Amino acid sequence: MRTYLVTGGAGFIGSNYIHYMFRKYDNEIRIINVDALTYAGNLENLKDIENRDNYTFVKADITDKEAIAKIFAENDIDRVVHFAAESHVDRSIKNPEVFVKTNVLGTAVMLNCAKAAWELEDGSFKEGKKFLHVSTDEVYGSLPDDGKSYFYETTPYSPHSPYSASKASSDMLVKAYIDTYHFPANITNCSNNYGPYQFPEKLIPLIINNALQGKKLPVYGDGMNIRDWLYVDDHAKAIDMVQEKGRLGETYNIGGHNEKRNIEIINIILDTLLEMLPENDPRRANVSKDLITYVEDRKGHDRRYAIAPDKIKKEVGWEPETMFAEGIKKTIAWFFEHEDWMKNVTSGDYQKYYADMYQNK
Ligand code: NAD
Ligand code: TYD
Repeated sequence: MRTYLVTGGAGFIGSNYIHYMFRKYDNEIRIINVDALTYAGNLENLKDIENRDNYTFVKADITDKEAIAKIFAENDIDRVVHFAAESHVDRSIKNPEVFVKTNVLGTAVMLNCAKAAWELEDGSFKEGKKFLHVSTDEVYGSLPDDGKSYFYETTPYSPHSPYSASKASSDMLVKAYIDTYHFPANITNCSNNYGPYQFPEKLIPLIINNALQGKKLPVYGDGMNIRDWLYVDDHAKAIDMVQEKGRLGETYNIGGHNEKRNIEIINIILDTLLEMLPENDPRRANVSKDLITYVEDRKGHDRRYAIAPDKIKKEVGWEPETMFAEGIKKTIAWFFEHEDWMKNVTSGDYQKYYADMYQNK
């Protein structure tokens, strides 16, 4: 039975990936989920699978060498899928250091421990071992608003935020391991994800949550920035396909062909909420375009991201499957069914974060 070590599996994409993998492989695989449970990690995301015999949770920080080495020593790990990271651009602008620690040092620890566990005496690696580093398209910087330029795997790195700079550094470390040791790894650079379990500091869940409560909807700058949105299950599938069918040592861009301006996203969410809320639901009265509030722009705000997913389509056979209109309905339906989840994650520390970040505007 193949054993996966998933880092950051209690976060948004990691928990969706674990669900996806158990739906796909059921009892054919074993997953060990290592997560430090920062503000972004939530074991509630994994409630329905936590009692499986082929699932184990380990609370550990990826920067803790001893803890990570112990997991490799006690388990014959076949695959590493490395999600754990500090992931929010706005937080990185306020407090960059933890991004360097987790994203750069944490990735170095993961690489080093995997290398130590997998390397043979002659410097080659045990058969079948693979490390997948989950990264972002933000490492490529910002595209012009021309609707025709795209990020390719060959696009030079030009990160602007402390978040993307730390992810770019971690990608470079993985590339260095590939080049220096022929370490069996892949890197995936994916565009913006949305879907169930996304923490409401990110645009889509924040807008859904605020709109349902009649709270203002903060739009940075002119609201015309473009992101290329991908439904999270499509990302989970792409990661699995790259690990199984991709060429080792290669980078694959993952994207949805789903470019939208932020203001368009907000309008779609408002329209979809009104379409989906029953006539007698009291929250209907809260949902209104009058809530849209333009606020100060994010510092160094990248204008446009857009992925050319040609390589992953050609070499791996992956294509995005979920159209935005369908994905946003599934996402909103999930948030309707998980009101308690939202209440839990927005109590406590989130209140302070929101007050500091938005001055309760
Ligand atoms: P997230 O913030 O929701 O989850 C991150 C998880 O990592 C949390 O469970 C957290 O507890 C854990 N973690 C943080 N620091 C840790 C540490 N030091 N040790 C162990 N665990 C730690 O993030 P996400 O949105 O699920 O993103 C996952 C990965 O995907 C990240 O590497 C991110 O850069 C990448 N990515 C995200 C997007 C996106 O749109 N969200 C797009 C492309 C790539
Ligand atoms: P976000 O979800 O933080 O993802 P990223 O910055 O990694 O792309 O933001 C998506 C876009 O939405 C980005 O252009 C910033 C913008 N945005 C707002 O306009 N208002 C908000 O309150 C947030 C959180 C984001």
